[in-house]
This record gives sequence, structure tokens and C-alpha cells, in this order.
Amino acid sequence: MAELKIRGVRKRFADTTILHGIDLDIADGEFIVFVGPSGCGKSTLLRTICGLEGPDEGTIAIGGRDMTNVPPAQRGIAMVFQSYALYPHMTVYENMAFALKLAGTPPATIRDKVLAAAASLRIEALLERKPKELSGGQRQRVAIGRAIVRHPEVFLFDEPLSNLDAALRVQMRIELKHLHRTLKSTMVYVTHDQVEAMTLADRIVVLRGGKVEQVGAPLELYNRPDNVFVAGFMGSPAMNFLRGAADGDGAIALAAGGSVAPPAAAGLAAGAPVTLGLRSEHVVLAAGGDGVPAVVQNVELLGDFSYVYLQTESSGEALVARADSNSTWHPGQRATLGAPPHCWHLFDSDGKARR
Ligand SMILES: Nc1ncnc2c1ncn2[C@@H]1O[C@H](COP(=O)(O)OP(=O)(O)O)[C@@H](O)[C@H]1O
Ligand SMILES: [Mg+2]
Repeated sequence: MAELKIRGVRKRFADTTILHGIDLDIADGEFIVFVGPSGCGKSTLLRTICGLEGPDEGTIAIGGRDMTNVPPAQRGIAMVFQSYALYPHMTVYENMAFALKLAGTPPATIRDKVLAAAASLRIEALLERKPKELSGGQRQRVAIGRAIVRHPEVFLFDEPLSNLDAALRVQMRIELKHLHRTLKSTMVYVTHDQVEAMTLADRIVVLRGGKVEQVGAPLELYNRPDNVFVAGFMGSPAMNFLRGAADGDGAIALAAGGSVAPPAAAGLAAGAPVTLGLRSEHVVLAAGGDGVPAVVQNVELLGDFSYVYLQTESSGEALVARADSNSTWHPGQRATLGAPPHCWHLFDSDGKARR
């Protein structure tokens, strides 16, 4: 069993606090992704789990054992970084076998383990090559293979796909997911890319400025973000936001004109400032009639659908709407926009979701 318990972890570098008391429970066999903007402390948290950094306060337990002061090599974990750092003079086989050889593992056992790992990563045909004879994706697979042969209970990945081109990233994402199903190990994965987080994770931890903003399954975060930050970070294009004020009667008057009545607006005091959120796929565009008046700024044709970029007429707020690919919206055209009441997200003046 390799569940992780992170309790009250704080980390400072000189005078700057990087992690502000992180509490997390990660279940055995779970694929958990830390996501957040660059510099929010993802790598520092991962390195603290791994033991490359010691926390100033708090504890890390793995499989029920307090590991806070245990050296990295004895934690039963393996880490895969963005830069794969393979030994250039060794073959793929030797690279994968290296740690086992150091540990004094019998050659026959090493062979079995390397061949099994190579099969799971589909690199059996590459075992005699040197790293310079491999593509970026193949090298990254070898780096993962080096981790697999050690049979860690927990894998830690720090942006392992960031150096790969877009198509290869998609392919490796699918393979990592497959690998997780096969190995059933606990995997903790760091990325700044919310698409990677959405597609890989059983649960996502959204970090910002060294604090946990929200933890949940990908669709939970997408559909029920706890605050404006998570709402804006998860999803591409980002959620649209509009300013408004409660009318005290269960409706919100928009700065952009018109009013909407999402269920969560009930009970808000008259005049309370709010932010309304609306996903691009929920925007309903019309050529006239009721709704928020806006002007089309740009249209992106993506084949199966289009993104229509708009600016509200009176408040100058920017929005994007997902439209049918055969719609005929064009820049300069006036439109009105709206959405079914339950599609609007409502955030109070502190940015917290109101439900
Ligand atoms: N060894 C270090 N010494 C001083 N500051 C550091 C060190 N490592 C990271 N930091 C700082 O801590 C913050 C978080 O870094 P990091 O955890 O690498 O962020 P992320 O992985 O989310 O991009 C950054 O501001 C970074 O500059
Ligand atoms: Mg990092």
C-alpha cells in the first residue's frame, strides 16, 4: 500500500514562503496531478514528497510510515523529470539496468525486469541503441523505464512531457494512462498544462501561490469550481467573466446590460457586487432580441466548430462563444448573447463560488 499523507507542509527559501501549509491525502493507486501556473510551488511540493527538499514544518507519510526525515532512496519512490538525463555512453538496456546493477541485483533478475519494462513501454526494439539515436519521445520512455524497473510504490513525474512536440505529448499521455492501469502504482504528476491535468488525473490539485485552491475529479473542477481562479484556470478557452450586481430580488444586473437570474443569486442583498462566469460552450448567440449586446471581434474556424470572440457594447468586456462551424458570424457584426440560467456560475466579491 502506498497512500500518501501530506500534513501541514511549509517550505521557505530564504525569506520567501513557497508552500503555505499543504494538507493532502493521496490514495493508494491514485493518479493525482498538481497543476498551477509557473512558480506556484508544484516542483517544490513534489521534491518535498521525494525527499530532495526537507519541509520547514509538517510531515510526509508514505504507506503509513513517516518519511519526513528518510533519505530519498529509501522512500520507495521514483522520480521522472522533464529533462531525462540519460547516460549518453550507455545503451537503452544499460540505462534501464543501471540502478538495479548498483543495488547488486542478480543479472538474470535485471534482465527480466528491463525486458518487462521495455515491453510495457514498447521500446523492446531500442534496447541496444544509445540515447543519441532516439527521438525525444523514445528518450522520455527510457527515462520512465528506468523508474519502472525499480518497482517503486509511488511514481513522481515533474512535467515529463514538456519537451515533446504536441502530437507526441498526446500519444505519451495515452501511454502514461495505460501504464498507470497496468502498474496500478500511485502516481503524482506535476504540470502547468490544464489539458494534461484534465486528461490524466483521477483527481487534480490546483495550486496557486503555494496554497491548494481546490482538489477534485477533473469534471468536478470544470463544472463546479470553488472560486474564480479555478474557474479561469481549468478549461480552454478560459471561462468568460462578466461583472454584475445583485438586485436583491434574485436577479443580477450585468454591467454589460440586461439581467440574468441564476439559481445561486437567490438571497443576495441588493447592490452586492458579483462576478458571473460562463463557459464558451454555454453562450447562446443571436442576431438580435433579448440578451447582452455585443460586437463580434474575431472568428476562429476550427473545422468542427468555431470560436466567436466578442466585446460587450456598453462595458467593453471580452467573451468567447463556441458556435457551429456553419454559422456565419463575422467581425463587426452585432449580436446579443445569453445562456440558460443554470449555466451561469456566480462568484461573490472575494471570488468564492456561490451555489
Ligand atoms: N532552491 C531554491 N531556492 C530559492 N528559491 C527557489 C528554489 N526552488 C524554487 N524556488 C522558488 O520557489 C517558487 C516555486 O518554485 P517551483 O516549485 O519550482 O514552482 P513550479 O514548479 O510550480 O513552477 C519559485 O518562485 C521559485 O523561484
Ligand atoms: Mg516546476
